[in-house]
Amino acid sequence: MDYVTLNDGMMMPQLGLGVYQIDDQNVTKQTVMDGLKNGYRLIDTASAYFNEEGVGEGIKASGVARKDIFLTSKLWWQDYAYEDAKKGIDTSLEKLGTDYLDLYLLHQPVGDIFGAWRALEEAQKAGKIRSIGVSNMNSGRLTDLIANSSVVPSINQVEIHPFFQEKDQVEYMKSQNVTPEAWGPLAQGAHDIFNNSILKEIGEKYNKSVAQVVLRWLLQRGVVVIPKSTHEQRLIQNIDVFDFKLSDDDMNKIATLDLNKGVADYSDPDFVNMLLKLRVRN
Ligand SMILES: NC(=O)c1ccc[n+]([C@@H]2O[C@H](COP(=O)([O-])OP(=O)(O)OC[C@H]3O[C@@H](n4cnc5c(N)ncnc54)[C@H](OP(=O)(O)O)[C@@H]3O)[C@@H](O)[C@H]2O)c1
Repeated sequence: MDYVTLNDGMMMPQLGLGVYQIDDQNVTKQTVMDGLKNGYRLIDTASAYFNEEGVGEGIKASGVARKDIFLTSKLWWQDYAYEDAKKGIDTSLEKLGTDYLDLYLLHQPVGDIFGAWRALEEAQKAGKIRSIGVSNMNSGRLTDLIANSSVVPSINQVEIHPFFQEKDQVEYMKSQNVTPEAWGPLAQGAHDIFNNSILKEIGEKYNKSVAQVVLRWLLQRGVVVIPKSTHEQRLIQNIDVFDFKLSDDDMNKIATLDLNKGVADYSDPDFVNMLLKLRVRN
């Protein structure tokens, strides 16, 4: 496993397990156990995934010491008002059955971002959260947050995959000492990614699958990746990406796949309105 050092000095595994769209607590628990058994040490959940309990149970049942696991969760925008955010942090800790989080993110760039960020800064000082970060912030929003708060986010977790490569945004984050983390690194299976002829051809050269090629490409760009799978064989495959290196030529071939369009478009009022309707409680 490779590690990245965040701007606050914390070390984070560069590859982890995402558990979005795993609704059943038992499946979540089993997936986390399978991941930890097979070498994963970073788990990425969110209050809005409704599976923090399953993640906590999986960690406990795994036998892996809590200190050896890098645990990420996220606050949903509905809890961004300062007092709600403080409660939201405690609720995540309680559901996960832990007394600290390694990383806590503001899940969406809408609502009272500054109230929530102040609550995260305070929780970090109190030792409840080791690193604090954001998600889905474009470069403009990130600039505003950095300019108007005392802690620079350690991470910005955004959609990045071969069809939405976000070259400028990744470079901008790095220039601000914010580590880029890719959600949907396998494009959530869209664009028939696993049958893409360029990715398949590259994979054949290294005796690796399309998923492994894509994850390797992101790692070589200095991005943290959190692919999701509930299948143990795929979990094993997805973490087996540290024994080969893509050539510059192959990196450039993958660069040609960029369509510059993701599933999430934060400049589209309809998309933002859709998000604002997604509530995790009444
Ligand atoms: N911050 C945000 O707003 C945000 C948004 C979305 C996601 N995320 C985070 O990012 C994580 C990853 O993103 P994601 O889950 O949306 O999508 P993803 O990891 O790009 O893709 C997951 C899909 O790929 C399949 N898959 C995984 N490994 C495979 C392999 N080796 N071969 C073939 N198929 C494979 C999975 O199926 P099976 O499970 O059936 O194997 C699943 O359908 C999430 O779990 C979550 O933690 C964050």
